[in-house]
Amino acid sequence: MNILLLGSGGREHALAWKISQSPRVDKLYIAPGNAGTSQVGENVAISVCDFDKIADFVLANNVSMVVVGPEDPLVKGVYDYFASNEKLSNIAVIGPSREAAQLEGSKSFAKEFMQRHSIPTAAYRSFDGTQLDEAYAFLETLKAPYVLKADGLCAGKGVLIVPTLDEAKAQLKDMFAGMFGNASATVVIEEFLDGIECSVFALTDGKDYVILPEAKDYKRIGEGNTGLNTGGMGSISPVPFADAAWMKKVEDRIVRPTVEGLVSEGLLYKGFIFFGLINVEGEPMVIEYNVRMGDPETETVMLRLKSDIVELFEKVAAGTLAGTTVEFDERTAVCVMLVSGGYPEAYGKGYEITGLENVTDSVLFHAGTAVKDGKVVTAGGRVIAASSYGKNREEALAASFKSAAAINFEKKYFRSDIGFDL
Ligand code: AMP
Ligand code: GLY
Repeated sequence: MNILLLGSGGREHALAWKISQSPRVDKLYIAPGNAGTSQVGENVAISVCDFDKIADFVLANNVSMVVVGPEDPLVKGVYDYFASNEKLSNIAVIGPSREAAQLEGSKSFAKEFMQRHSIPTAAYRSFDGTQLDEAYAFLETLKAPYVLKADGLCAGKGVLIVPTLDEAKAQLKDMFAGMFGNASATVVIEEFLDGIECSVFALTDGKDYVILPEAKDYKRIGEGNTGLNTGGMGSISPVPFADAAWMKKVEDRIVRPTVEGLVSEGLLYKGFIFFGLINVEGEPMVIEYNVRMGDPETETVMLRLKSDIVELFEKVAAGTLAGTTVEFDERTAVCVMLVSGGYPEAYGKGYEITGLENVTDSVLFHAGTAVKDGKVVTAGGRVIAASSYGKNREEALAASFKSAAAINFEKKYFRSDIGFDL
């Protein structure tokens, strides 16, 4: 079978690495991919939301499955584009329909869905700009800190956690005035939950599901989880507090009710569900849904997934996941992200990356890289993930830090405290 994977980050290199190990794959294409994905498949210069070009490519190259990495094409309806076109409808798309992708595309849609299905999440209300006084009144009923979320997609930047009521009111007003463009025309205000986060992943065929290895990511730029939010500075799997008892709560209270909710509401969903959870005094609660895998969680989850991912995708497409078991690698996997100095603010690009060939203890997943004049150069804020196995966290981290030291590019930075809080 020929597969087309959409996306170009570390998540997609990790997915491509895993897909390429399957004996069921003849040819793997990645659109648009990066310097790393070209080592395990063939990059195609098509952007992830150019559905017409994607369709032409798929038909011309006998592709029978499209795996969608990022949320953008899902929220824009790539699943429906294929399903509704006679020539394309027999091609499997791994991802939810546009309507179901609203679980990530609209925070208020997700909150209402959770409320309808009694899925534990923070208390909330959503408001638009005509309801400023009501929104202020609701803020006054909450305790500090205040959580304000732009309703729409903001590339992970649309959440503000504000220490005082006055500041929360001021920020709310700015959000309505277009701080995140149209995405903050509606704002979800919610109760602050205090706890430690964990990402849980399921793959569903629309009626049944399997749960994949969980992971914890590290979003802040600075050591000790300080400084600005980034796309993710590292990840770890497994997560020690996500033991069998906790994961049973997650499955019973969150995963199964979510999939049953999708079924009962007629929301078509054949793909990954990412549950962004927080552990509040031993009880899992949902912070957010994403309709894709996490980045940089995928860079550890794929290391721990022993089952053939393409076989799982085929069952997702056919609706035959029921009764499937997924095999996990018992080892610990960690990912340390090497980033460009300055990120997540302004940073330089185009610096040569050296030392890649000296790395033997890690799997390297490229995030922001490109090939220029035959050399691998930096092309983004997050540059390369060094992912490693270990018999425990310390051993896996030691391997990733050794690899991080062996790779060089101008202004390289990484966090040396991944896993410090576990
Ligand atoms: P989100 O985009 O909804 O995942 O929010 C981004 C980050 O903000 C999350 O990963 C949490 O760290 C934090 N966050 C979001 N909602 C809450 C909440 N209700 N209580 C505490 N932290 C939150
Ligand atoms: N690591 C969080 C995300 O992918 O949204």
